[in-house]
Amino acid sequence: MDAIVYESNTGFTKQYAEMLAEAVHLPAYPLVEAVSKVPRGSSVFFLGWVCGGKISGLPVAAKRYILEGAAAVGIVFPHPDVVSELLKANKLPCPLFYLQGGVDPKRLGYFKRKILSMIASNLERQEERNAAVWDLVDTLRIGGSYVSAANLEPVLSWVKETEDCEEVSD
Ligand SMILES: Cc1cc2nc3c(=O)[nH]c(=O)nc-3n(C[C@H](O)[C@H](O)[C@H](O)COP(=O)(O)O)c2cc1C
Repeated sequence: MDAIVYESNTGFTKQYAEMLAEAVHLPAYPLVEAVSKVPRGSSVFFLGWVCGGKISGLPVAAKRYILEGAAAVGIVFPHPDVVSELLKANKLPCPLFYLQGGVDPKRLGYFKRKILSMIASNLERQEERNAAVWDLVDTLRIGGSYVSAANLEPVLSWVKETEDCEEVSD
């Protein structure tokens, strides 16, 4: 694998990308920078933030690079169907992981904040409302982060394994 490439709107995907890059000793580039710094056809791990079910930057990254693996960074709980739902809505040529990111209202415009507030209202109306749901509702309205090294662990193990396999076959 040659690099970690990511698309982040408010910085949470960037945090995961940089944590991953540091752990596997690879450079991390935002997609806009990668197009001039990472040659076309390179093999990369891609991370993109989820917007309306779509993984941002994925079509551009998939056209330009060989995607070894990808991670979608969203705000919904990492429930068992989240990956299959994302796979249905996004054309992926590689394994996909899901990571819970965060919300920073100061870095979002009025309409994006409104969309998150609508998601919060839907959550408030659902039948199953536990402490985790209320926490997510607060995060959607006032901001917060779920980014953690523990969340990244499955991605990290997978990337390390893939790297080891590449070394053996070289
Ligand atoms: C307009 C908008 C739409 C969003 N749609 C989704 C979504 O469909 N599913 C989801 O899990 N998160 C959704 N999110 C939440 C973001 O994916 C989440 O805040 C993510 O951590 C942002 O990453 P970033 O800081 O790298 O931009 C949405 C956020 C915004 C602002």
